[in-house]
Amino acid sequence: MIDRLTLAIVVQSLALLWIGPACEASSLGLTVHAVPLQSDGGQSVRAHFTVIASNPCPPLTGLCTEGVNCTLHKAYFPFSGIKPDSGWCVRQWEQVVPSHYNSTISLNSRTTFHILMKAGPDARANNGKFNHPAYVALPPPIRARENCPHHIQLSVKDLDGDKVRCRFAMEEQGECLDCTPHSFIELYKDACMLTFTGNAPVGQYSIYLMAEDYIPTPKAGQVRESQPISSVPVQLSLSVEQSYSSCTDEPVATGKTPKEHTTFHVLPFEEVKFEAEFISRKEGVSEIAVVGQPGLIKYGFASTGALSQLSMSWVRGENTLTHLFPICFVANSMSLQSEPRCVWLYQREVRILPHGTELICNKTAMTLVLPLGSLSNINLTELQLNSPTCPVTFNDTHLTAHVALEGCGTKTVHAGRELVFTNTLKSVRPYSMITRQPSLILPLACRIPAVQARGPNFNVTVPVTVFFNSDVRLEFHLPGEGPFAEYTYHPQFSPIGLMPGPMRRDSAPVRHIRALQGGPGSRIKELDLHLLSNTTLERAELSVKRCVESASENFAESLIIMENGCTAFNTTKEIRATSNARIFRLDVTNLVENTMYAECEVDLCIPFLPSQTCVTQCNKGLVNRAATIMLSKTFTVRSGPVSLVATTPVPSTSVVTGAAGQNEGPATAPTVEAVTITSSAPEQTSFMAVGITFNIICLYVIIRESFFIFVEK
Ligand SMILES: *[C@@H]1O[C@H](CO)[C@@H](O)[C@H](O)[C@H]1NC(C)=O
Ligand SMILES: *[C@@H]1O[C@H](CO)[C@@H](O)[C@H](O)[C@H]1NC(C)=O
Ligand SMILES: *[C@@H]1O[C@H](CO)[C@@H](O)[C@H](O)[C@H]1NC(C)=O
Ligand SMILES: *[C@@H]1O[C@H](CO)[C@@H](O)[C@H](O)[C@H]1NC(C)=O
Ligand SMILES: *[C@@H]1O[C@H](CO)[C@@H](O)[C@H](O)[C@H]1NC(C)=O
Ligand SMILES: *[C@@H]1O[C@H](CO)[C@@H](O)[C@H](O)[C@H]1NC(C)=O
Ligand SMILES: *[C@@H]1O[C@H](CO)[C@@H](O)[C@H](O)[C@H]1NC(C)=O
Ligand SMILES: *[C@@H]1O[C@H](CO)[C@@H](O)[C@H](O)[C@H]1NC(C)=O
Repeated sequence: MIDRLTLAIVVQSLALLWIGPACEASSLGLTVHAVPLQSDGGQSVRAHFTVIASNPCPPLTGLCTEGVNCTLHKAYFPFSGIKPDSGWCVRQWEQVVPSHYNSTISLNSRTTFHILMKAGPDARANNGKFNHPAYVALPPPIRARENCPHHIQLSVKDLDGDKVRCRFAMEEQGECLDCTPHSFIELYKDACMLTFTGNAPVGQYSIYLMAEDYIPTPKAGQVRESQPISSVPVQLSLSVEQSYSSCTDEPVATGKTPKEHTTFHVLPFEEVKFEAEFISRKEGVSEIAVVGQPGLIKYGFASTGALSQLSMSWVRGENTLTHLFPICFVANSMSLQSEPRCVWLYQREVRILPHGTELICNKTAMTLVLPLGSLSNINLTELQLNSPTCPVTFNDTHLTAHVALEGCGTKTVHAGRELVFTNTLKSVRPYSMITRQPSLILPLACRIPAVQARGPNFNVTVPVTVFFNSDVRLEFHLPGEGPFAEYTYHPQFSPIGLMPGPMRRDSAPVRHIRALQGGPGSRIKELDLHLLSNTTLERAELSVKRCVESASENFAESLIIMENGCTAFNTTKEIRATSNARIFRLDVTNLVENTMYAECEVDLCIPFLPSQTCVTQCNKGLVNRAATIMLSKTFTVRSGPVSLVATTPVPSTSVVTGAAGQNEGPATAPTVEAVTITSSAPEQTSFMAVGITFNIICLYVIIRESFFIFVEK
């Protein structure tokens, strides 16, 4: 009896699940931004898909074979949200598809999209180029409340300046399946604005639209009669929830938030930052949900009392994204949602520089030489760098500028795995001056690749395990030796702060005095401590928490060498290397033992912002550091025995051939035994043992790629 009753309830709830609107949407949104390919006569487009799927977040595997015609954006933090229901995530990919495209795309059995797109080819009469279909910004899943009418304004743009209208997708045209428009949704086609009347039962609904572009006509009203140039699908979701409070209590964006439809123009390697801020008087905001584009960084979410905020940043590195792309966000509280707000980023188009242009980067400066022939009509006296104090000179044929990397207003950004120094040469006019002369904007960039080993692998979705495949090693090498000889032979030192007063020593304690002798058997004066990581994650940095040295293997008595970014000895210097290596030059003349051991605690971390660092800096508050770290994992690494006595050369070990900054005697160069040690293999005993191959890193010039010109009329 009980069994039957239970069964009946199960069947009933199953039936509810099947007939209720809730089962309709595990696909919570879709947009396609199509870019016509000139190369094959517009028969194909590069389609940039953005979809929202309900959790668990489906993988991108099996969509297409990655290559020139397909890019899967495997973000390790896909955009995601917790409202409504069990939450959702954003999946994005780019694929070359026919411009007339009719297909069903399945991410998994629950997330299936039907797509019918007519995207050309249509050559435009005014410039002969292929038409760009409209771009619609995809908002996070929309939430509304029973009996609370609500407007939903879509943000749409058209690169050709066409008029964009939206209409419901038509089932009879094959534009969607099973998609009769809901009676409680009204659509103002010309404005792409939806109105929810409020008269709907609680549940989740899909809205299928087509966005179409029309040649703008002088007379409004004529649009209706003409044919659209292209049609692209847009799918939205609306979840209708129960209403517990008045219809006007939603969170509202403050003036700090960029206005709806704002467009930011971005130069190569430029960083765009903005903040979303909301006031919510009724309920605290639990999330500011974002649907953006790959590479967008969100950080600093805070919700205190009625105020909530989130910062966002994007650095334009090399990318395959569309010239124009949207970022939409909403504030969600327990039962309320703000209006969605969308902003757009426009990647300014750049021209390849004229033949004969040169940009040379060295360790301290970039030097630009630009032939003037190509710059007719540009008023050269108006040209300035970021800082007007750095001179730009020109003669009859060439313009020359010397731009200091530390000065001249040069900025530093992280773009992907590169550190990029940027400056801009541009026309600057007095405000009062109105002129029809074109102006010049010339972004300059010197790029330092981080580890060039191989591309990042973002195949990891769980934040705490992003460093699962990473390791940290500790190695000792003589100055100018080892895998980083490039850096340690002619070292560039970075400043490193001293530990506060009482903890510091000006030299290591002398346990007993040793006579120092030259030649074989002599003491080593300086040693380079290398802390190396093999992470392939973008923007990972190495932060040294603490290093100690001891005469014994069990570290019974140990001496702090470094702590919290500070050094204990004023003789310790840091050598600039790569983001995957921290190298410290230690003066070991005062260590009495013949053999030492070292142990370090090191953090691998990723900063929130591309232009921030999560490396602990001496005497900078820890609070500050906590606010900058997105992810971190601590490693403890120990060396094996390190001999501090130089011995006669042995053929099988390497030989120091004159370390920089040392007064080596001309006689016999010392060698060192038992030095390269990692935490996992303390028995390894050779200077030569190098586990990871790091490429040579230097400031270098990539004329064709690092260098763009943009002439504004
Ligand atoms: C990429 O797509 C273009 C246009 O459809 C086609 O011509 C080309 O062969 C494709 N390339 C690859 C590697 O699939
Ligand atoms: C789209 O493809 C499906 C399946 O191949 C087909 O049945 C349908 O007629 C096509 N629709 C259009 C508009 O071409
Ligand atoms: C780098 O270039 C600048 C400007 O041309 C020059 O003044 C400086 O001496 C160069 N530095 C090095 C280390 O070559
Ligand atoms: C060039 O710019 C300067 C500064 O704005 C101005 O004084 C000068 O008249 C301009 N020259 C020409 C030829 O327009
Ligand atoms: C102008 O400057 C360029 C670059 O410094 C130089 O190569 C060229 O010889 C100079 N021309 C004249 C006429 O001085
Ligand atoms: C990516 O993840 C999938 C699923 O977890 C796994 O099968 C695949 O081997 C991974 N790829 C790489 C390159 O690690
Ligand atoms: C880093 O080194 C560890 C230990 O040697 C190894 O297991 C891991 O696969 C390496 N990771 C990468 C990304 O090479
Ligand atoms: C380190 O400190 C000692 C004592 O204060 C001082 O004599 C010495 O010059 C300092 N060394 C350096 C490299 O600053």
